[in-house]
Amino acid sequence: QSFEKKILCIGAGYVGGPTMAVIADKCPRYKVTVVDIDAGKIAAWNSDTLPVYEPGLLDVVQRARGKNLFFSTDVPAAIAEADIIFVSVNTPTKATGVGAGMAADLRYWENTARQIRQCADTPKIVVEKSTVPVKTAEAMAQILSMENGGNLFEVLSNPEFLAEGTAVADLENPDRVVIGSRQTPEGVAARDVLVEVYANWVPREKILTSNIWSSEMAKLAANAFLAQRVSSINTIANICESSGANVQEVSRAVGMDRRIGPKFLNAGVGFGGSCFKKDILSLAYLCREAGADAEADYWESVVRINEHQKERFVRRMLDAMFHSMADKRIALFGFAFKPDTGDIRDAPAITIAGRLLDEGAVLAISDPRALDGARSVFGDADGRVEYVEDPYEAAKKSHAIAVLTEWQAYRDLDYTAIYAAMEKPAFFFDGRNVADHAALFDMGFNVYPVGMPAMTHF
Ligand code: NAI
Repeated sequence: QSFEKKILCIGAGYVGGPTMAVIADKCPRYKVTVVDIDAGKIAAWNSDTLPVYEPGLLDVVQRARGKNLFFSTDVPAAIAEADIIFVSVNTPTKATGVGAGMAADLRYWENTARQIRQCADTPKIVVEKSTVPVKTAEAMAQILSMENGGNLFEVLSNPEFLAEGTAVADLENPDRVVIGSRQTPEGVAARDVLVEVYANWVPREKILTSNIWSSEMAKLAANAFLAQRVSSINTIANICESSGANVQEVSRAVGMDRRIGPKFLNAGVGFGGSCFKKDILSLAYLCREAGADAEADYWESVVRINEHQKERFVRRMLDAMFHSMADKRIALFGFAFKPDTGDIRDAPAITIAGRLLDEGAVLAISDPRALDGARSVFGDADGRVEYVEDPYEAAKKSHAIAVLTEWQAYRDLDYTAIYAAMEKPAFFFDGRNVADHAALFDMGFNVYPVGMPAMTHF
């Protein structure tokens, strides 16, 4: 079968897999291949137990796989035949060296660029899909043009804005697609090729074109703004707790201002996920490099507030439970960093569970999708951590429940039965404000929502 275009994505992770599955599904005339160095991951993409859980994803993959969507470990062959190469490898924060704990570690990305250079002998459009520091496309272009005559490659920036948990819906109906290119005839021509790909299903007015640096900066800025809203509402929530205001009422009143909008105004135990913290720190690092220390301080404070929020939640539990967790069983409802995903990267639950273990607690961790992830973090912790899918089992004989992920399932539980099976006094720490707090209080729970005064029986 001859395909109109051959598209390759290097990196079959949370972004590469779903993004390419949707492109393949929407564009049957293109051949879409996704490669990864992790053979286990590729095998999983070729099975019906995908390595990434996203609502609706399996259907999309099953529609296209084997027809025009392929998952493979043969990176060189895939590079050789591709017209467009998306690079969607991981870009974690550097652990050591200059910029440790702040700057993005670009080793995976640079290895990829070198491999593309080695394996390509026909012209390719290379698309930076990973979130990278501003000016990375330029470095990539430099690596790519060192040999091969320099004119085989054109590098574009096309950051991904999908959110985990709603990846398929976000990809099928994006708020916008951003494509950055050089403003040269070659750059604009390559950009137009990528515009045509998205135009198969995205309305033209939602496809924004810009210069490369704007596109790279837009992604960092969008994540920084989203995280900033979470930290902002959390600071308000913390004041509400002692003042008698109710943060949900405050959020509603604030969010109805059309200049502000209602989304991302839920107070809680803080943001998680692999992106917000890393991208803000990467932005702050860029600021520092540019000599803009006040700007860096501003963005770093968003991360500081988020760390504070998790510790504050643990302190509130300790204060409520008579300053001791020693050998008390605590049921954690939710471990994933958000609902509808099994992803635990940078989940607030990791920090909170770790702190509760420090305090001597025994944990029963419950989550519909993330128990394997939780187990990979804590193991059996000398018998102090149990992993229980069923929240009723997790809560049995526990002193407290702490809700850490707003899974819909936790709204609909029979809390009367749960209360009956718990130690008394029973505590409910609602780190995501999912429950009906007045109802829980009437059942006998001592209830600690985020951003509202506690409701206690003593
Ligand atoms: P991930 O860690 O799930 O996937 C990256 C994959 O790249 C891994 O499977 C890894 O084995 C593979 N890889 C690394 N080096 C390779 C190489 N040389 N050749 C072939 N494969 C290689 O990461 P994820 O979450 O997909 O993120 C990728 C990028 O997208 C990051 O820059 C991230 O900031 C960005 N992003 C992530 C979003 C998310 O919700 N997870 C949303 C938007 C952007």
